[in-house]
Amino acid sequence: STAPRVIFSGIQPTGTPHLGNFAGAIRQWLNLQHDPDEKCRRFFSVVDLHAITSPQHGQQLRQRKRETLAALLATGLDPSKSALFYQSSVPAHTELMWILSCIASTGYLSRMTQWKSKLGLSPDTTLQDGGVKASLKLGLFSYPVLQAADILVHRATHVPVGDDQRQHLEFARECVTNFNHAYGPHLRSPQTITSSSRRIMSLQQPTKKMSKSDVDSKSHILITDTPEEIRRKVMAALTDSVNSVSYDPEARPGVSNLLDILSIFDSSGRDPAQLAEDLLNRSLMDLKQLVADAVITGLQGIRERFIDFLSADEGRYIDWVEAEGARKARENAEETMAIVRQAIGL
Ligand code: ADP
Ligand code: NA
Repeated sequence: STAPRVIFSGIQPTGTPHLGNFAGAIRQWLNLQHDPDEKCRRFFSVVDLHAITSPQHGQQLRQRKRETLAALLATGLDPSKSALFYQSSVPAHTELMWILSCIASTGYLSRMTQWKSKLGLSPDTTLQDGGVKASLKLGLFSYPVLQAADILVHRATHVPVGDDQRQHLEFARECVTNFNHAYGPHLRSPQTITSSSRRIMSLQQPTKKMSKSDVDSKSHILITDTPEEIRRKVMAALTDSVNSVSYDPEARPGVSNLLDILSIFDSSGRDPAQLAEDLLNRSLMDLKQLVADAVITGLQGIRERFIDFLSADEGRYIDWVEAEGARKARENAEETMAIVRQAIGL
């Protein structure tokens, strides 16, 4: 179609962004800033309402929201090209969520995997299993409905996310189908853009995805880590007892994860399997040194800019960026809500 592209994506302020967030999401957001289309609009939200589906301390959440925004700026997101804002600054997200809740099926939601993994339950757990209903809060269960509203309220055409989010994007499209069937063709179905790399795994448990919520700080590399911290974490990464390099995510998750990380930053664009072939005769120690060097170089400058952005104008710069982003996001979301309210009779 000829309609201008609208990009939407989000990140939780549950900690500083890590290499997984960078590879799966932020790297794509940066690329999309180079879109030559002058009319392309970009919305990147620090999703604080999603963050409170797990327990947060108010003071800490407030601080982490500002840090997340500073980290995004430090990677190169430009507030003149991308609206950066806190989800709770735009009430239309929650208003549309309620409306979508009235057409969303609990059966569909119960089959989704995120609430299960967040509660540490196996993927085949059902709502009927003992104790589940007592520990499962409504907000965690309906997380995908809020995520759908985030996307649909901006009439996003493209949503750049890590591959762990595919299921949620399918649900968002299901919401569009249901809404449009009931009220007319007003919501727009978004396309997923996933990054070329596989999801990045924990350095300590390479069968689990790298996550901010992991309490073991050696499991993730933060994009604001010092070169020394990065090297220490890479050198301590769990691999296996075969002292050679090969790419086999099933049999060699730790080594393969290191190759996935290396490929993010490879200047000649080699994929992990190609990198493994080129490193055939090298030791795992050599591989780790190469990975540490590549990550340190690839993230260079982010830490310094992060500190500068946080302190700029005694912190008021961040607040100004957020206020500007929220203003643009509210304006865009209100256009959608006017149509939605009209269609429903609200
Ligand atoms: P987290 O799971 O660390 O809390 P978020 O939920 O804030 O991260 O996700 C923000 C973005 O980062 C999403 O697009 C998600 O797909 C992506 N992402 C998160 N973890 C990873 C990972 N380990 N590998 C690749 N992408 C990831
Ligand atoms: Na996530």
